[in-house]
Amino acid sequence: MIESRKLDHERRQRILERIATLDTLPSLPRVVSEMLRLLAEDDYSMEELMELVQQDPALTARVLKLANSAIYGRPRQIDSLQQAMVVLGGKELHRLVTTIAVMRSFDDVFARDRILDKELFWSHSVGTGELTHRVASYFNLEFRGVDFTAGLLHDVGKVVLDQHFHAEFRDCLELANRRGLPLFEAETKLLGLDHAEVGAVLAAKWELPGSLLSAIRNHHCMDPKDPHALLVACVRLANHLVKDEAMSCLGEDNLWQIELDSAWQILSEARHQQEMQERTSALEQIREGIQAARDRVRSLVGEITR
Ligand SMILES: [Fe+2]
Ligand SMILES: [Fe+2]
Repeated sequence: MIESRKLDHERRQRILERIATLDTLPSLPRVVSEMLRLLAEDDYSMEELMELVQQDPALTARVLKLANSAIYGRPRQIDSLQQAMVVLGGKELHRLVTTIAVMRSFDDVFARDRILDKELFWSHSVGTGELTHRVASYFNLEFRGVDFTAGLLHDVGKVVLDQHFHAEFRDCLELANRRGLPLFEAETKLLGLDHAEVGAVLAAKWELPGSLLSAIRNHHCMDPKDPHALLVACVRLANHLVKDEAMSCLGEDNLWQIELDSAWQILSEARHQQEMQERTSALEQIREGIQAARDRVRSLVGEITR
């Protein structure tokens, strides 16, 4: 037992040391972290948000192109970010900009021989982001844009493993399939750490806020003492619910029941005034919401990856 723990520790250290020396890890576009910083301030203005986006003309052009696409089905032409803000709303504009910027920065990572399918991965990630925000809204939690970003980035460690530890990642998937294990358990068995921890290393390198780090690191293993447990719980629920709506990604856990999950318990206790029946109907509402969003998420990801 002690021997196997020592081995796990050594394997984990080896992976972490290798990651620390990699100079080809994906970078996070500055606009994503700057927008989060701005949204965290009490007195930010929409003009400041738009100024940030406008500093990147290619990004602005992409945002306007998508805002005018059939995805949003707006009858009138949107010619400026100001119009997009009015028509789509500030939160949707923030989500759209974040999605485009993050996906664009990962463009080179999904090479042909990768295990992860680019469109499936991003549909799962964008869907998790959307649903994290919906779950948070239902529980009257306000995370100022961090909820969507956390959902979007929660599985980013899988991309790093696929890119830099390709053979090991394939072995993990093979073990998960053979033994019917969730991928993160297979990863822990073979590598001594899982994609959630790898994602957290990347998030720390990007200097993301602690709440985002927790959400990425703990989405498979909730720690109720985590000061960001409510955000983590929202991401965790969203990750599972989105998978139920056919937006799964490789290695997601199929044996999962929401009512038994620690994330559901944590959120329900935080809002204990709600009766069980209300919670059940809320779950229905959340599910209906993601069903409605599913086609839009897929079209959006399809457009951006094209
Ligand atoms: Fe995951
Ligand atoms: Fe996931």
